[in-house]
Amino acid sequence: MELWGSILLLQGTTLLVIVCSWVILDRVWRPWRLILFCRKQGIDGFPFVPLIGQLPQVSKVLENTDQGSALEWKALSIARECVHNHGKIFYFTTAGAVRICVADPGLIKEILQTNADSYSKPSFIHDLELLRTGIFASSGDLWAPQRQLLQLLFAPKVIKREMGGINQWCRAALRSWSQEIDSNSGGELPVHKKLAELTLSIIKKLGFGQEDGWGSDYQTSSNIAESFSSYLLNCRRLFFGYPAAVPGYRFLPTGLNKEIMKDETWLTKVIEDLIVARSKDYVATSSEDREHKDVLDILLTTEAISGQQVRDNGLTFLLAGHHTTASLLTWSMYMLALYPLWQERARAEVEEFCGDGEVEWNTLAQLKTLSMILSETLRLFPPIPLIGRRCVKENSVGPYVIPPGVEIMIPTAVIHRDKEFWGDDADQFQPMRFANGLGKASKHILAYLPFGSGPRSCIGQNLALAEARTVLATILPMYSWSLSPGYLHCPEVSLTLQPKFDLPIVMQRLRS
Ligand code: HEM
Repeated sequence: MELWGSILLLQGTTLLVIVCSWVILDRVWRPWRLILFCRKQGIDGFPFVPLIGQLPQVSKVLENTDQGSALEWKALSIARECVHNHGKIFYFTTAGAVRICVADPGLIKEILQTNADSYSKPSFIHDLELLRTGIFASSGDLWAPQRQLLQLLFAPKVIKREMGGINQWCRAALRSWSQEIDSNSGGELPVHKKLAELTLSIIKKLGFGQEDGWGSDYQTSSNIAESFSSYLLNCRRLFFGYPAAVPGYRFLPTGLNKEIMKDETWLTKVIEDLIVARSKDYVATSSEDREHKDVLDILLTTEAISGQQVRDNGLTFLLAGHHTTASLLTWSMYMLALYPLWQERARAEVEEFCGDGEVEWNTLAQLKTLSMILSETLRLFPPIPLIGRRCVKENSVGPYVIPPGVEIMIPTAVIHRDKEFWGDDADQFQPMRFANGLGKASKHILAYLPFGSGPRSCIGQNLALAEARTVLATILPMYSWSLSPGYLHCPEVSLTLQPKFDLPIVMQRLRS
């Protein structure tokens, strides 16, 4: 017995020594070495705090629910303050991760374009279990063939073909909104929820050919959109909250992990049901016979794509295809509620070019006021307010050498308001700044990054902009709107920027 006791004690001690050594190496020595490397090059930053770094401050800012001024939010004003105090390149740490924040468009060009091969997706994206091997979260040789294969589906000529379907979904959604508005005496609508459901239905149809309902009866656009939102928010808490300070936290049976796993299981079932529904379809029509292939056709019929990649890409397109566009539409409706004169101008334009009919592909280019409003909304409220990268190969960026292991944070929302590039009215809603196109709106083309830049830029940009213009052009002639007095302004960052307490809007019918 005594012998067994000694063996167990020895094993326990050895394990403890290994864990402690790993923690010291990974959470203290490695970040400290990277920070020294930054400091030697003149990069300023936050004091080094072993094990946790600036995790408490970051977590506090992200959880903050203070009401900001109408065009700002708390995390943004703190990020701007950091750039003001430390300069356009500075470092901070969260647990063991050393992060370099880069807010200089010249340096960003080198990171996202010139030296793109030296970077992979950051750990907080790569570690999203649901997306891991898909096009958004993967890197290098796993990513490149997927991009080549899938980008053809988002070419303008393909979107043009889909305009009929997008119009149809917008009109169906507006009919169901009308019923809800009429039955509600105040005419109030939780617009963000509604737009998330609508954009999810559109991507389900375009990407997965699913016309009515989802793969199973109990799945609805509403509960799927909610599940994606809670998944992203909980993952943010895992990566940027106190749990990040505990090595191996992800594997503990905590409430947070259980919530994340619940959403992972439920969303995996959603995509698997869609795949099964499509496989049944194939029995009736071979994919070769299909006139137009969609995301699922391409994924299921390409031999080099594994079953895991089909699932991860399916979820990537469901998520990226709705969360971002819903965010753009929500903040656009918010802006038009705050600026009724712009709402009037956009309505007059839509009535002039679209009349009572559908929004045609060729008409989209004529909707200049609407396009300027969307560009300005993307500037002030970028749906992805932060772009991340992980350095995998030492490379030079301007006068600096970036070592492998460092995580780069590009604060899009901060750069979009930099007065050096946007002028003194950078904080104001001024759609006219885009009157002569995107290139002329600021002093540096990389000061505007709503869709990223370089080889990893957004694959769905054409679709998102066509969809957003069609949705607004459908609503504008039918309704005018204003903010509900109950609205609490609290934009919240998970992967995307969403209104924490939805966007309650008072809708007034203009025609029947
Ligand atoms: C207003 C709407 C949208 C915005 C603001 C937006 C923004 C972005 C940004 C900033 C990136 C680059 C991220 C990075 O560099 O790390 C990105 C990538 C991506 N987006 Fe979008 N997106 C939008 C809509 C869409 C839609 C509708 C789809 C699909 C139907 C989509 C699919 C993707 C995919 C698959 C990627 C990864 C591309 C790659 O890594 O090769 N996005 N998006």
